[in-house]
Amino acid sequence: MSRFREPQHPDFQRLNASISFDRRLWPYDVAQSRAHARMLAERGIIASEDRDAMLKGLDAVERELTEDRFEFEPGDEDIHMAIERRLTEIAGPVGGKLHTARSRNDQVVTDLAMYTRERAEAARVAVEALMAALLERAREHSDWAMPGYTHLQRAQPVYLGHHLLAYFWMLARDRARFEFARREADRLPLGAGALAGVSFETDRRFVARELGFAEVVPNSIDAVSNRDFVLDYLNAAATCATHLSRLGAELVLWCSSEFSFCELPDEWSSGSSIMPQKKNPDAAELLRAKAPRVVSHLAALHGVMHALPLTYNKDLQEDKEHLFDAIDTIELALAAATGMIAGVSFDRERMSEAAADELTAATDVADMLVGLGVPFREAHGVVAGLVRTAVDSERPLSGLTTDELRAHSPLLAEHEGRFRELLTQESWLESKVSEGGTSLARVRAQLELARATLDGPPRS
Ligand code: ARG
Repeated sequence: MSRFREPQHPDFQRLNASISFDRRLWPYDVAQSRAHARMLAERGIIASEDRDAMLKGLDAVERELTEDRFEFEPGDEDIHMAIERRLTEIAGPVGGKLHTARSRNDQVVTDLAMYTRERAEAARVAVEALMAALLERAREHSDWAMPGYTHLQRAQPVYLGHHLLAYFWMLARDRARFEFARREADRLPLGAGALAGVSFETDRRFVARELGFAEVVPNSIDAVSNRDFVLDYLNAAATCATHLSRLGAELVLWCSSEFSFCELPDEWSSGSSIMPQKKNPDAAELLRAKAPRVVSHLAALHGVMHALPLTYNKDLQEDKEHLFDAIDTIELALAAATGMIAGVSFDRERMSEAAADELTAATDVADMLVGLGVPFREAHGVVAGLVRTAVDSERPLSGLTTDELRAHSPLLAEHEGRFRELLTQESWLESKVSEGGTSLARVRAQLELARATLDGPPRS
């Protein structure tokens, strides 16, 4: 019997069905069904023969799914109904007992929690691989000079190792965020029923143990309404993707002929169909472009959840495609970033040449005047005047004569020796001795801290 006199409109069926995308949840749906059947028998809610018949049937269903032989039918609205339908075909009417003390509302969120937990862990591992690659490359290039930029204008020189480590720390925070998302997904919703709990003496802790959950969700209403752990995963993925977009953008710039700071590995580059000389950084460009897509999934799910009355609403079905696409995108982006960082080769000469632009020593000259008692603002003005004279006459700062120095500041002429010494590259780099700065000793200390961080537990 059915409550309905008319069949569903085909367009409604297309709108309502989630089978085209939620079929990827099948391994978790089968696993939770096994745990549920075992619990039902354990509590005497079903007979042990029924449990055995169900488990055997689930094995057969699993085989069909694994071997891609499972035939989905037009009436299979979602993966939960498809699996139960097939189980009943294989095992007979006993299959219909599997849904005792369970609703699709607690079932779907349990599948989702298991999947999110697994992918958050996978993302953490992938982030760690990238952190390890960055650390390795930073160690190799710890004393290679390059220009540091603000506004994409040469600002102050830094060591390449220092620059690469900046990405390491960004990724360390991403790792902590993925770990947080994993922990948030590690509570069992199953047993909440449709929303109020079930009228059987179930054992949720038994199911939690079977499925490896750390805890059970304490409130049945919250259990079926909650998608925070998906938001947490998407938040971690969005920030991580944004970090990777900045890395991608820098790689694109750096491997242009204009910069020529690096060359990407062939494995991660493509040619042009018309210009044979070209080596295009497509993977780095895509790292740049994928980020807004992941961020939009986070924004979209916030939109779905916003002002949604408790408890389950069909709106919640819209959580999946956002999560799934974010997972696929970030996992691939992390693999690409790791491949590119591991294989990129840097051009020491080019970078050091670019870092030898004496104008980037301007702050150091100002700092020297400060050391001689000139207030910083005044020193800033003096050096700005020097730079202007040098730029106007197309000379480097070291090309200025003693008289010119004296015209800008008698103190400079008086300490001309120190001024000229300051204009050598090593001195600008090694002057940045503050904790977290680019001087070699500080970079070495940072490398050690990074190693300990990578080997330690994920935390922010
Ligand atoms: N396909 C549904 C989803 O993804 C499963 C839950 C359906 N529950 C319901 N009461 N209609 O959310």
